[in-house]
Amino acid sequence: MDYQRFLEQAMAAALPALGRGKVADYIPALAAADAGAFGMALATTDGEVHGVGDDTTPFSVQSVSKLFTLALALHHGSDALWRRVGREPSGNPFNSLIQLETEQGIPRNPFINAGALVVTDALQTLTGDASGAVRELLRAESGNPAVATAPAIAASEAAHGHRNAALAHFLAHFGNLRNPVDTVLEHYYAHCALEASCRDLALAGGFLARHGLRADGSRLLSRTDAKRLNAVMLTCGTYDAAGEFAYRVGLPGKSGVGGAILAILPGRGALCAWSPGLDPAGNSVGAMAALDAFTTATGLSVF
Ligand code: DON
Repeated sequence: MDYQRFLEQAMAAALPALGRGKVADYIPALAAADAGAFGMALATTDGEVHGVGDDTTPFSVQSVSKLFTLALALHHGSDALWRRVGREPSGNPFNSLIQLETEQGIPRNPFINAGALVVTDALQTLTGDASGAVRELLRAESGNPAVATAPAIAASEAAHGHRNAALAHFLAHFGNLRNPVDTVLEHYYAHCALEASCRDLALAGGFLARHGLRADGSRLLSRTDAKRLNAVMLTCGTYDAAGEFAYRVGLPGKSGVGGAILAILPGRGALCAWSPGLDPAGNSVGAMAALDAFTTATGLSVF
């Protein structure tokens, strides 16, 4: 298949949509992003990497980091984790507090902020350095040693993170954090504020396309856990727009308010599109349009 040509077509299809999005400004350091920027990359399981637009420009990965945090926590064992976090779509915004109170401190899924705080806490207990573990995984899988946390973005998140702090305190109240609230928040902000490019993330997502195998052939996840992580991405990875994402794109996908969406073609590759303009659910308008165009033109989807 001529992937490069399909990526070019996908970019052309996305360009008219770029102006419709709004950059995330609830984290002030992200407000300066250019809503019109766009990049896209595909890393195949055969070792090919294709890209279009600003595919090597680093951006804030934000919630895309949550899938790597979850993969690392599952690597160390899944039973205990799934007692502390669910795997159902929330149908609410990613930073909502409502269900956490009514559901006694058990977040609906690992990708809403409450669930990601629990997974970060679990990874902190397992490794002693949750955000460092995520950073090293991204560096190793992408082959890019420059992947790092942007301190100004992490600091901006912390300074304006009242909702996340509220979520973390709720979790602590219900006994669902093992580490101090401040430690969990620090590592959560540090992995959200990692900077990487479309190319880096497409390469880093390869283990999900290879059914759990890392780039060096070692196993990060069992085949079953890789299937499960892809399933949770499909149902929960784009929050209350997961139905729309499945309908339009037909792939497991994880979005971030930096404007990236990482989507997995199981057995075939990982695809990352990025444009900072977001829709009201917090998903990139341009990335969604490009992924929609790519899977529609190629016929590649899980359906
Ligand atoms: O905690 C936050 O709100 C951000 N660090 C991450 C949110 C995010 O990326 C949601 N994704 N679409």
